[in-house]
Amino acid sequence: MVATAPLDIPVIEPSSRVQEFLQSPRQILINGKWQSAASGKTFTVFNPASGGEIAQVAEGDAEDIAQAVAAARKVFDDPTHAWNNMTPSERGKLIWKIGDLILENLDELAELESLDNGKPMGVAQVADVPLSADLFHYMAGWTTKLEGNTIPISVPYAPGAKFHAFTMREPVGVVGQIIPWNFPLLMAAWKLGPVLATGNCVVLKPAEQTPLTALRLGEIIQEAGVPDGVVNIVTGMGETAGAALAAHDEVDKVAFTGSTEVGKMIVNAASGNLKKVTLELGGKSPNIIFKDTANLEATIAGAASAIFFNHGQCCCAGSRLYVEKDIFDDVVAGVSAAAESIKLGPGLAPDTEMGPLVSDEQLSRVTGYMNAGQEAGATCVAGGTRRGEQGYFVSPTVIKDAQDDMSIVREEIFGPVVVADPFDDIEEIIGRSNDSTYGLAAGIWTNDIGKAHRTAARLRAGTVWINCYNIFDAALPFGGYKQSGWGREMGHEVLDLYTETKAVCLGL
Ligand code: NAI
Ligand code: MG
Repeated sequence: MVATAPLDIPVIEPSSRVQEFLQSPRQILINGKWQSAASGKTFTVFNPASGGEIAQVAEGDAEDIAQAVAAARKVFDDPTHAWNNMTPSERGKLIWKIGDLILENLDELAELESLDNGKPMGVAQVADVPLSADLFHYMAGWTTKLEGNTIPISVPYAPGAKFHAFTMREPVGVVGQIIPWNFPLLMAAWKLGPVLATGNCVVLKPAEQTPLTALRLGEIIQEAGVPDGVVNIVTGMGETAGAALAAHDEVDKVAFTGSTEVGKMIVNAASGNLKKVTLELGGKSPNIIFKDTANLEATIAGAASAIFFNHGQCCCAGSRLYVEKDIFDDVVAGVSAAAESIKLGPGLAPDTEMGPLVSDEQLSRVTGYMNAGQEAGATCVAGGTRRGEQGYFVSPTVIKDAQDDMSIVREEIFGPVVVADPFDDIEEIIGRSNDSTYGLAAGIWTNDIGKAHRTAARLRAGTVWINCYNIFDAALPFGGYKQSGWGREMGHEVLDLYTETKAVCLGL
């Protein structure tokens, strides 16, 4: 077991508006109605800063999923339904309005997110909530631009015949979406934005650790005027509600973000009706610093933020820090100093820079890796402890002297723990960077533009950041190579994954 170092954790009461939202058990959204779980069960949502209860939420299971899928199916299969007859422009305006309403409720959403997930409210105010709004605004513009092609065809076995051939983009149908707890609102936005832009219907299952902002978003989607049954939100456990959604025969596509382990289960569950599958899974991203980096101070700050942002609970966290030998000691000292200066506290405290991990389970996981690293002989240069007796806090941690085959180097820790290691040359570091079952993201820091591009081209990763890290935009596709996933989120790339292409051929 890792040691526990003291931490003074102030108790901060949420605003009356948020308290009101949490007062009565939050319900499931099916066909425009908020209702209790069919079983009547609820589950507890915890404040990760204290371990105390903040809300009861309806615990949907297979029965609620069946009802929600039936509601979505009914809308999608009804050619006379308003949703299927809305012009692209009208649909775009609805989606734009969701973005606007998110911004109107920015502070409330940020507070709820902070309370539920543990992240600093200031971060949710400048990142999670505005990015969620921007995703809907970006997607709103695509509704009018989902074009097919006209295709000149030759048909060698029909000499002299004339045809008019074209393609159309149509919605995939009823989509099941399962999302994680690290960016609860933003992951809901990444998933729901393209669903709505392409005219699908959806059943969304939020993570059981952090269901609150998705439920608030459900209210906003209703307020924007999205017809009943288009967006259904079923809270519940992964093993019951999530598994039922992934396996349901009336679901045409499932989109999942979470662990690679569960991603593989989703693929198996989807095989029954061969529904389409997209997956955004784990990572163990290399962040490579060459000695010719332009500004060492800015690079060190970037490397620290690459791992410590969102408490390391990012699938793309720069968790393997590779530094060219000459500057290794300076970078490790700098990142360790940054780690030690981070102010830990509850997300709602205004001076908090890093909140708790999301859950008890995540606390055990992360401290388990800290322990494993130390037992395997690696050196902890900063952090390496749990903080405080209550809540799920850990110190930002920097580890060196690890071997490439240790679990702390190979496996996703999903906490504020970076493993730093020196390298000698570019071929060595490209090989070591790519020696991973994951391929989500990578970072490169150098002032040599040719080297930057040559390295970027050879890294097997869905995103490569050069002289920056954790830069996200609704227009920039995000997703993984190898076991980091299938398909892309955001950008126009995601629209392909929510549409079928229909080829139409007319004999003239
Ligand atoms: P998880 O993969 O179990 O949970 C993610 C979502 O999947 C949740 O909504 C959960 O309810 C659902 N789920 C769980 N089991 C399911 C099943 N059998 N069928 C359908 N849905 C299911 O992730 P968990 O347990 O919260 O975290 C474990 C590890 O996963 C983390 O330590 C981290 O390494 C990784 N992870 C990666 C994320 C990413 O952004 N790629 C996000 C969250 C976790
Ligand atoms: Mg799990």
